[in-house]
Amino acid sequence: MPVQLPNQNQVINELNKALGWELRAQAMYAHYAAYVKGLEMLTLKTHFEDEATESFGHAAKVRDIIATLGGEAVTTRDAAPIVHTEDWKQMLTEALQTEQAAAAQYKKILPMVESYPPFSHTIIHIMKDEMDAVIEVESLLGR
Ligand SMILES: [Fe+2]
Repeated sequence: MPVQLPNQNQVINELNKALGWELRAQAMYAHYAAYVKGLEMLTLKTHFEDEATESFGHAAKVRDIIATLGGEAVTTRDAAPIVHTEDWKQMLTEALQTEQAAAAQYKKILPMVESYPPFSHTIIHIMKDEMDAVIEVESLLGR
């Protein structure tokens, strides 16, 4: 018997939006890791690869929650375009917007899963990762 939450369908819908953002983030970071050039490649290639791996892990956690709720997880990424660039500052600006959007989405989900601590615990941890990423990217951009 799957776990039942208040507003079950709405929760699944919002979790699927988060999953779509994670799938998009994976694609975006993997893309930027391939195109970062020059001296910045020494630091940012690994940074982008690590972020792609983190997004893969977040997607897995969100997918597990959706499955436990008896919902159907999306398999396609959020439709927000991924901007192609070889300019590392633009890559980081795009990354910042992505991390801010992801953090906001998890913040929206958190109160919806509050009544079931195993889910709220997982969502808090993912949200913390996104908020840490926002601070890190702002630092990398010199803000
Ligand atoms: Fe994430």
